[in-house]
Amino acid sequence: MKLTEKQKQKLEDLLSKMTLEEKIGQMNLESPSIVGGFDVPFEELIEMMTDGRISQEEFQKIMATAKRDYHEEDIRCGLVGAMMGDDPHKANELQKIAVEESRLGIPLLMGFDVIHGLRSVYPIAIAEAGAFDEQLFEKTARLAAKESRAHGISWNFAPMIDVARDCRWGRVSEGPGEDPYLASCFAKAKVRGLQGGRECGEDYVAACLKHFVAYSACEAGRDYNTTSMSGSQLHNVYLAPFKAAVEEGAVSAMASFNDLNGIPCTVNPYTLRELLKTQYGMDGFTVSDANGIRECVAHGIAEDDRDAGMQAVTAGLDMDMGTHIYKDYLKEAVTQGKVPMETVDEAVRRILSVKMWLGLFENPYVSEEEIREYEMLPKEHAGIALEAAKKSIVLLKNDDGILPLSKNVKISLVGSLAGNEEEVTGAWAMSWKKEDCISILKGLQDYGAAVTWYPCGGPEGELNYDEIEHACAEGDVVVAVTGELASMSGEASSRADVTLPGKQRELLEELYKRTEKQDKKLVTVLMNGRPLALGWEAEHLPVLVEAWHLGIQMGNAVAAVLFGDENPSAKLSASFPSVNGQCPLYYNHPNTGRPGSKSKFTSRYLDAPFEPLFPFGYGLSYTSYAYSGLQVQMEQGSDVLLINVEIENCGNRKGTETVQLYMQDLTASLVRPVKELKGFLRIELDAGEKKTVSFELEKKEMGFYDNQGNYVLEDGKFRIYVGGNSRDCLCEEVQIQF
Ligand code: GLC
Repeated sequence: MKLTEKQKQKLEDLLSKMTLEEKIGQMNLESPSIVGGFDVPFEELIEMMTDGRISQEEFQKIMATAKRDYHEEDIRCGLVGAMMGDDPHKANELQKIAVEESRLGIPLLMGFDVIHGLRSVYPIAIAEAGAFDEQLFEKTARLAAKESRAHGISWNFAPMIDVARDCRWGRVSEGPGEDPYLASCFAKAKVRGLQGGRECGEDYVAACLKHFVAYSACEAGRDYNTTSMSGSQLHNVYLAPFKAAVEEGAVSAMASFNDLNGIPCTVNPYTLRELLKTQYGMDGFTVSDANGIRECVAHGIAEDDRDAGMQAVTAGLDMDMGTHIYKDYLKEAVTQGKVPMETVDEAVRRILSVKMWLGLFENPYVSEEEIREYEMLPKEHAGIALEAAKKSIVLLKNDDGILPLSKNVKISLVGSLAGNEEEVTGAWAMSWKKEDCISILKGLQDYGAAVTWYPCGGPEGELNYDEIEHACAEGDVVVAVTGELASMSGEASSRADVTLPGKQRELLEELYKRTEKQDKKLVTVLMNGRPLALGWEAEHLPVLVEAWHLGIQMGNAVAAVLFGDENPSAKLSASFPSVNGQCPLYYNHPNTGRPGSKSKFTSRYLDAPFEPLFPFGYGLSYTSYAYSGLQVQMEQGSDVLLINVEIENCGNRKGTETVQLYMQDLTASLVRPVKELKGFLRIELDAGEKKTVSFELEKKEMGFYDNQGNYVLEDGKFRIYVGGNSRDCLCEEVQIQF
């Protein structure tokens, strides 16, 4: 983050004029508190929405009428540094108080969760990561930043870059999957898109890397649960995307809720200060997650709020989200000498630097013209939303080339999810408008397909056997859409059973039985936020299309793939299990002394397969590709491996293949994974076309972190793999001298 000399001077001048209260005010992130406006307490309202007594839509309607306290008086007294919200008029109102009525006129940072788009919602991250397309990752973030700034939001609580290996955890939907290399590429691209490189212009926002760190390693996949791991695993897997994103210039990071090896990340000086600020050199600021400081009392690391606050600020946590603990106790701690003024000054300096870098002092408001323009943006961004959705669809199974369908086929569309446009956006999308969302039903209708929708059942509730009967009788093809509601993934949405929820398995069994008997085709489209345990489905169903929650253009993207105008090209960013008991499951695992095999005394199960049902990097196409001629060369004295491979499109239509480069360090001072992704390349091939694909792998990328967090390069034998997924690869062995 580059400030001009003038800005640095201005910052120091400002700091020198600030009272201790005003400094602490900058460290206080407020959210509008709900103060009523409805006839039940807010907590009860949440319960009613969670247990389905009221729908999400009803909840949103009630919330729109809720009375909120925006802490205007505190803002006027300079006691608020940042506010959460996505209402541009309210943002301008509060900004006006901060800039024109407070003593020093310091503008507010307006923060909001814009994880995969604001009004224009793109695919959930686990889906988009499967596009293996860094330009796309950056493009969708760029547009999200534009919509945010035009909506008065200058700080996105994004990207979420938690590497996740356990699909029971609901937040796997929000992140870029199980691989640290792909997650690092995703993280860097998102920071570029959100922050616009190093120089921040007017329609960029401050990124906020989250959740720092290893939150996704929560034991048993249960959200907010404890995490513990070796230093080597922490560095090689969970820290990797954060280090990459800080190197890309990210200006803020959010501490995660979890305790890591016994110390909650909210009060962890090793992660917050030593790693993030000192080793990685992040010159922006850190913020707690919601209520995170107060929760350190429940963790059992702090006596009370006051103790938690002191530990947090001392550990390097610069801003308090939503507890008022800094506001209530920090002044006393500083005056009593328990917290040095320098600690407060450092936090405030970091926060003010980001506000200056964003240009908020010169341009704190969002103009009426920008607000008007915002309303038009979804149309402008629909094209990218459609491109992102199409590129995120993974073809998992397509027996006998049932797909693509011919355009004049009569379709019975089955499943309540298929006609519900509100479910296409997935978790962590709060500012979409129903009129922008295209359901799968609408997408097929707009395609001109002869389609009749039979809800039949869905992620909740009973099945309607009459509708099942009609669906199978009427259509030439049955397209079944099954999966999860948006609320079944995301925060506080861990599932111990990751099979299809509700009675959707029975629904598919019924459809399978009837279409088999009537010799009709059955196509199953999955609309879910996490990898699912699909053992039965993969064994029986002829076609499986993983469509995730693809955002506002979902319906058009699915229709384009089903009718073949789009040849599916995405790959899985996370492994799929056959059964729940395999979780956590990931491709880059150590070999163990008894690698799993058919023989009994190896790392396996008596009652389930030990390999993934569908591995990381897996995805089919309407054509097929053949890999040959893998060559690995290293010029004498060179620091780069040159890797070439031939790819041929053996089918009768053009396609895009994501070629993946993996390596394995065969013998090292610590056991290393059987494969590690080290590169990928999307390549388009016409029918029958053959191309040579080349990778350069720098030797310095072939090391790993030891348990003390030192990066080591160790001579020895390595395997280089290239393939279309993490399982089926060509392989060459090389001896490396560093
Ligand atoms: C939530 C989430 C975090 C989000 C924050 C603000 O609890 O953990 O990802 O940014 O609160 O909404």
